[in-house]
Amino acid sequence: MSIRSWPPVLRALLAQALGFAVLVTLVRLGLRFPPLIWVLLQAVLAVFLSRWLALPPRWILMQAILPFLVRALWGVAIPAWIYLALFLVLALVFGGGLLSRVPLYHASQDAWEKLESLVPDRPGLCFADLGCGFGGPVAHLARLRPEATFLGVEASPFTWLVAWLRCLPRRNARIRLGSLWRTDLATIDVAYAFLSPVPMPALWAKVRREMRPGGRFISHSFEVPGETPHRVVPVKGRDGARLLVWDL
Ligand SMILES: C[S@@+](CC[C@H](N)C(=O)[O-])C[C@H]1O[C@@H](n2cnc3c(N)ncnc32)[C@H](O)[C@@H]1O
Repeated sequence: MSIRSWPPVLRALLAQALGFAVLVTLVRLGLRFPPLIWVLLQAVLAVFLSRWLALPPRWILMQAILPFLVRALWGVAIPAWIYLALFLVLALVFGGGLLSRVPLYHASQDAWEKLESLVPDRPGLCFADLGCGFGGPVAHLARLRPEATFLGVEASPFTWLVAWLRCLPRRNARIRLGSLWRTDLATIDVAYAFLSPVPMPALWAKVRREMRPGGRFISHSFEVPGETPHRVVPVKGRDGARLLVWDL
């Protein structure tokens, strides 16, 4: 895999690390500058390397600002454990979607209600929310359909815990901590996902490979390139929010 196709967060870290390595080399060679010049140099190198690594413009802007931000916080007496705590909280809440470039946001109550008509009312039916966030759709549908079974898969530990606690009262709902890519869809009748444009081609390939004919795939808002959905159901929420439905 080429470095330029790495997730942006890894490319951004690489650019900063390479820039820093250049500064360390210059110090070793005996160069001496005022601190602000070093910071400026780090920013310039990070921007240059980020462009080379094909990072999008908003990431390049963040790369330029980051060294100045670090410098500004340098002298501030913030205990080191706060940085660690912040890092851990971010990793626990958002870590699962970081590398697959899927942020945490939620389907609206209206989307949950529209899902009701898209999930057949059939005893024994298996529904999966791939990347279930805080478990809203799973908890809602499991309450209304006691005869069906509902699976939520979530990769971020804290997010998973919230969904797990939320679905605890539902005997027909299960929330699994793990990757949607390691979830076998062979027994799933209706798979639902609200992710981002990035994983859609790979997810569609997985759906086609693993789900049985007669199954249904629902994507909240994100299209599958080149695949026209059989139904589109607008939902309230952010602009362009809709449920795209494919019958397999
Ligand atoms: C946009 S939220 C959707 C939440 C919920 N499905 C809904 O409709 O309200 C996407 C979730 O997918 C999770 N996620 C991202 N990549 C994942 C992966 N590879 N495996 C499991 N979960 C993942 C993220 O952590 C995030 O909680």
